[in-house]
Amino acid sequence: MKLWGGRFSGRLDPLFERFSESFSFDRRLILYDLKVNRAYVRELGRAKVLSAREVRALVRGLDAIAREVSRRPQWARQPSSEDVHTWVEARLQREVGEVAERLRTGRSRNDLVATDTRLYLKDAVRELQLAAVEFLDSLLFQARRCRTVALPGFTHLQPAQPILFAHYLLAYFQMVSRDLSRLENCYARADELPMGSGALAGAAYPIDRLRLARELGFARVSRNSLDAVSDRDGVAELIFTCSLTMIHLSRLAEDLIVYSSPAFGFVEMGDAYSTGSSLMPQKKNADALELIRGKAATLVGRLSGTLAVLKGLPLSYNRDLQEDKRALFDAVDTTSDSLKLAARVVRTLRVNADRMAAHMAVGFLTATDVADELVRRGMPFAQAHEVVGKLVRWCEQRRVTFAEVSASDARRIIPLWDAKLAEVAKSVPHSLAQRAVVGGTAPSRVRIELASAGRLVRQWRRRWLRR
Ligand code: ARG
Repeated sequence: MKLWGGRFSGRLDPLFERFSESFSFDRRLILYDLKVNRAYVRELGRAKVLSAREVRALVRGLDAIAREVSRRPQWARQPSSEDVHTWVEARLQREVGEVAERLRTGRSRNDLVATDTRLYLKDAVRELQLAAVEFLDSLLFQARRCRTVALPGFTHLQPAQPILFAHYLLAYFQMVSRDLSRLENCYARADELPMGSGALAGAAYPIDRLRLARELGFARVSRNSLDAVSDRDGVAELIFTCSLTMIHLSRLAEDLIVYSSPAFGFVEMGDAYSTGSSLMPQKKNADALELIRGKAATLVGRLSGTLAVLKGLPLSYNRDLQEDKRALFDAVDTTSDSLKLAARVVRTLRVNADRMAAHMAVGFLTATDVADELVRRGMPFAQAHEVVGKLVRWCEQRRVTFAEVSASDARRIIPLWDAKLAEVAKSVPHSLAQRAVVGGTAPSRVRIELASAGRLVRQWRRRWLRR
């Protein structure tokens, strides 16, 4: 079946037919397509374009197809069609006969596919939000469990200052919280009905688009038909939001891959999320995390592909736009799966506090605290920085740690050196406790942040699980 046979003679080249079909992926939109058609047909009835009897027959047919698809999703797999809209119309003919020919009155696949896609997008956002909240909850779970564990913090991947492992995890909590609000913005902007825009110029039948929007659960109607049939901002935005979430997960993956390498040994991945080597019996590889990192790269490619499709596209609808769906579906599936998988990886992570402490002992991570203590005694910071730097150099040359340097040796470089400074140089808890500013890593501060993160997770769960 074709929706446009009249002006054509002969058949399509089968190669082109295969090249142009989208049913193999846009059949994911079937239930949305049926829903939009159903609401639209009823609107045509209210506008007196279709008779009550015709509306009843069409709605009955659409409902029957929807029931069958919900019951047996595989059912809509076998017959191949140009696209999901063609499939629905063909099915409807078999269901209700000739009256199905009235389905397409005043509407186009252009406004239909734009509407289906927005309905999908809104559901996809909710799914992603739930997956994101599960991920946040796993960060919280692990952060609470390791409440007192200190981790060497890095800049440039060089040992920098001690931080709480919980503080480290909460950094990712912040990133994905921002992703959640980006998702909410995506939802709000996509919440607009294109249906009634026709092919490009607007429907020529007096349908009430506001009523149609209400019936389909949209907050608004689009205000320009040309824009409505060719706008894919929402698709691009969601793919971007997914890409950024994947980039956040990819950075976490990279951290944990490094931290789980025996050279660091800070964490150990659960066996369920690791793989071995077919050759080297001792290997335990963080494949789950490597795949997240790899899929993030693929998704960034999808994003630039989608933007490139839109760039230079003349108004209004062009078939190029069909490329949007594969990218969108893949972005949503990949991001949702990655969030769920990352949640499990984090939840089952074994944390090795001793290894973290050992790294801190040799890395001079308290050097800033020694300088700060000198500042507290009146020394300008630049001078303090200089003398502590000299002490570090002295220790490094002799392969001793701050804890091992004798008071008399230290005093030759820092004449003010005393028991208190020696203690500051050794003490990770002291270093942590100093950083009690809002956003700092002090245990007192992190406790407050953990509590507020817990409240947020509960609130978000309640908000999105209810729908
Ligand atoms: N399958 C198309 C898409 O996904 C919708 C059909 C519009 N086709 C057309 N020739 N106007 O964009």
